[in-house]
Amino acid sequence: MKRVVFPGSFDPITKGHLDIIERAAKIFDEVIVAVLVNVDKKGLFTIDERVKLIEKTVSNINNVKVKSFKGLLIDFLKREGCTTVVKGLRNATDYDYEVQMAIINKALDEKIETLFLIAKSEYCSVSSSVVKQIGMLNGDIKKFIPSCIIEDFNDKINKITRGGENE
Ligand code: PNS
Repeated sequence: MKRVVFPGSFDPITKGHLDIIERAAKIFDEVIVAVLVNVDKKGLFTIDERVKLIEKTVSNINNVKVKSFKGLLIDFLKREGCTTVVKGLRNATDYDYEVQMAIINKALDEKIETLFLIAKSEYCSVSSSVVKQIGMLNGDIKKFIPSCIIEDFNDKINKITRGGENE
């Protein structure tokens, strides 16, 4: 069975991420979306919330699983018995960063292969950071995140702006 890991922060998942997941799910038998637990960086959503939002988004794709991981990606891959990583590339900045990560991961474990899918043009400027910024400034994020999580996103923004959560 051909399996691939799609790692990231997913704070929150965007339509660009979803496009990569859908395309990878057509190429591989199983896609594992792996949410990084980054103890140094507090996000908008908790890790559990991010996992739930992704699960909701991919609920109609039967060969996608969602997990979270701490530490090195290569150690997560080892635990999963998987040697392939997929990442999306939106632009030259992504390219420079992702190639470096791919080379480092291969240096750490020779068996790891990283495959890149080029983002569709409509998603080349979409990122979780931009979505968060627009949301916090009361902008319309409908074009950028999957429709099934818009309510969750707006609820979170409302909680923060009203209650001071995640400040
Ligand atoms: O959403 P992102 O920023 O593209 O995700 C980056 C991620 C999670 C793929 C990357 O930071 C990662 O793999 N982190 C785990 C730590 C690791 O293995 N680093 C590589 C060696 S420095």
